[in-house]
Amino acid sequence: MNTIENIDKDKLPQHLAIIMDGNGRWAKQKGKMRVFGHEHGAKAVKKIVESCVKIGVPYLTLYAFSTENWNRPKFEVDTLMKLLATQLKKELNTFLDNNVRFNTIGNIDSLPKKAFKEITEVTNKTSGNTGLTLTLALSYGAREELVNAVKNISVKVKNNIISSENIDEIIINNHLYTHNIPDVDLLIRTSGEHRISNFLLWQIAYAELYFTNVLWPDFNEQQLVEAILNYQNRERRFGKTSEQLN
Ligand code: IPE
Ligand code: IPE
Ligand code: MG
Repeated sequence: MNTIENIDKDKLPQHLAIIMDGNGRWAKQKGKMRVFGHEHGAKAVKKIVESCVKIGVPYLTLYAFSTENWNRPKFEVDTLMKLLATQLKKELNTFLDNNVRFNTIGNIDSLPKKAFKEITEVTNKTSGNTGLTLTLALSYGAREELVNAVKNISVKVKNNIISSENIDEIIINNHLYTHNIPDVDLLIRTSGEHRISNFLLWQIAYAELYFTNVLWPDFNEQQLVEAILNYQNRERRFGKTSEQLN
């Protein structure tokens, strides 16, 4: 069995992103309601954050709620939002103890007041931390993020702050929610689905993708280690030939 000791510290993914999927199916398999799966999904989040701290991953981004997830039944959405608020309150000390800097990406203005308040509080109280940067994608959609970036750049062009000829990848990147986070190196999706579901479309341009059938509430440190070891055995060529890399 592989453990954290098997990981090559010099080849860590700088930015790990995870599509945490399968809470509903996990609950269904146990004859429970979907929200039971979300509660256990939250426990998996805590454990994976702690594992990332131990491993030394600098950036972890978790897809927690998509712009499309607003279309789920009202009861499920309401429960998820309540769970978000209570978990944040509960985990503030975990973040402080582990030097975790918390922030969010997405349209957080659209979240219920209580959740918004907890997000602001946890973000502010952990802003001075220098360890793992934990980013929760909430009411996040990559297309919305890009639309938002185009709008903001357009306003700057109109006001002569940016000239249209100078628009480049750096400028676009600087107008994304993730402007202060490096590109994704490793993207994990649990639950056996092989899709991106509107997550970080720009930022995963050269990410390594890793899919596992494990449902999110069952995803643990052991499986995270396997994913990172698998990543470390890949050759990232970025368009070059294998020979050029050596
Ligand atoms: C992921 O689990 C959590 C959210 C999208 C909020 P799901 O709720 O999508 O679980 P499945 O995919 O229905 O099993
Ligand atoms: C993606 O999961 C969103 C999150 C994990 C938050 P979904 O369960 O919403 O994705 P689809 O609908 O199966 O693509
Ligand atoms: Mg799902």
